[in-house]
Amino acid sequence: MTTALPVPLSLWVDTAPAPDRGAASLPSSADVVVLGAGIAGLTTALLLARAGRSVVVVEAGRVAGGVSGHTTAKVSAQHAVKYSMLEDRHGAGAAKTYATAQSEALEWIAATAAKARIDCAFTRADSYVYTTHARTVETLRREADAAAEAGLAASFVGDVELAVPALGAVRVTRQAHFHPRRWLLGLAAEVERSGGTILEHTRATSLDLRGRAVRTSEGDVEAKDIVVATHYPVFDRGMYFARLDPVRDLVVAGPAAANVAPAGMYLDADTHHSVRSYTADGTTTVIAGGEHYRVGAETEIDRRYRRLAAWAAEHAGLHRVTHRWSAHDMSTADGLPYVGRYFPGAAHLWVATGFGQWGMTGGTAAGHVLAARILGEDHPAAALFDPHRFDLHSALSVVEDNVTVGRHLVGDHLALLWQNRSLDEIEPGRAAVVRAGVEFVAAYRGEGGELHTVEAHCTHLGCLVAFNDSERTWDCPCHGSRFDIDGGVVQGPAVRPLRRHSH
Ligand SMILES: Cc1cc2nc3c(=O)[nH]c(=O)nc-3n(C[C@H](O)[C@H](O)[C@H](O)COP(=O)(O)OP(=O)(O)OC[C@H]3O[C@@H](n4cnc5c(N)ncnc54)[C@H](O)[C@@H]3O)c2cc1C
Ligand code: FES
Repeated sequence: MTTALPVPLSLWVDTAPAPDRGAASLPSSADVVVLGAGIAGLTTALLLARAGRSVVVVEAGRVAGGVSGHTTAKVSAQHAVKYSMLEDRHGAGAAKTYATAQSEALEWIAATAAKARIDCAFTRADSYVYTTHARTVETLRREADAAAEAGLAASFVGDVELAVPALGAVRVTRQAHFHPRRWLLGLAAEVERSGGTILEHTRATSLDLRGRAVRTSEGDVEAKDIVVATHYPVFDRGMYFARLDPVRDLVVAGPAAANVAPAGMYLDADTHHSVRSYTADGTTTVIAGGEHYRVGAETEIDRRYRRLAAWAAEHAGLHRVTHRWSAHDMSTADGLPYVGRYFPGAAHLWVATGFGQWGMTGGTAAGHVLAARILGEDHPAAALFDPHRFDLHSALSVVEDNVTVGRHLVGDHLALLWQNRSLDEIEPGRAAVVRAGVEFVAAYRGEGGELHTVEAHCTHLGCLVAFNDSERTWDCPCHGSRFDIDGGVVQGPAVRPLRRHSH
């Protein structure tokens, strides 16, 4: 297999083009304004629109242009090694509530796709978490028991079809995978058919904290309720930045022989490499994910892509890489998402985040929880997902985050104080953070020799950004903000660009 890497582009974005929804004008008021047209936002919007609420969805980019369009799209209630952890930390009842919410989300997707005829390649497949290490076998046996007790069709099996020396696996039958952008375009069409409005290229810029009005790049809109489903909750009033861990994953995809590509969905319990297949127009594509790292903590990303491609070639028959992309999802310290009131006492402001790499069912379940709560109904998972539940792990994570931020604020600066590198030393195609007098400058030199220089302090809380050589972005190691080489915000929590630096 050749390891030439194409320009980063998600398979899902590439294979599901759709016209812009830019033409609709922003209504001045609605019952509910949903910020973000990813899986959490659009599911919430559809359920509320079908319940007769007037709904406006405000999306800064395109439908499914965020993480939901950059996922591997396994629609499964098996979430790595989850149920034994939930049982240990939260009890068997919590594990059952979690499993039920995920399974119901999966079945809702199946039923909605069938009824609304959403052509999203929804395909049933068994899901596996396997190990090649003797030390992990017992963990998987426990996980199989806990998942079965929680209500999933789970069992421990000795063998898997993947070309790996597996010593055992947890199998959950009748899970699924799909094309996530086609699913979300279908959901968006259903929202509109139910009377809702969706605006793309419309960024929410500020918020009335009572949940009664949003300011956007296209004007203001009043609301009875506001749902912040922007992945990272962009208007941080709930200390979310200190309670969410941005974990970035890489994905490679390309053709494989149909008789070699796996029929099931596989995750290595130890390395977290994952693989599934996708078949369209008679071509089978293998999609492999993994090589996770904390945003901003790694700079040689292409090396990781090559390692992932080599793994997929050896174990799942990947011939060559036609698509590669990456994205990060937010993990919480106690393994449960934050879905509910934005901050304690917020009566009309709601949030959904922290799906920990499992937002296909997680974001769908979040939509059901939020829709129920906004409609004044109970939901069995509402208390479990409450963003303001007390949990020792979350409290420790706030402390740990402050230590991480402190380490980057102090350590990264100190490291540069002794460094004498100048802008002239940066070669074409390379980047560096350098000290210029009292300032720290993030500098990238283009292939043509031109220099792009911006202030290196993240506009969120001031950590120094680090270069991502694969996507040519400046990534912040503290909470995962990302900026382009001229400082524009690619991803929050930062909302302001890095200031240009004149050199
Ligand atoms: C590489 C990778 C692989 C994954 N694989 C799987 C998998 O196989 N199965 C699974 O279940 N999960 C998987 N996940 C996790 C899953 O993709 C995410 O949990 C889920 O997509 C998150 O959905 P969301 O709706 O919260 O966020 P998003 O899809 O990011 O939606 C948020 C939207 O809000 C918009 N927005 C942001 N700021 C503003 C603003 N100010 N105004 C208006 N709009 C705004 C963004 O543009 C975006 O479209 C994976 C994640 C990654 C990174
Ligand atoms: S993302 Fe928080 S300091 Fe950069």
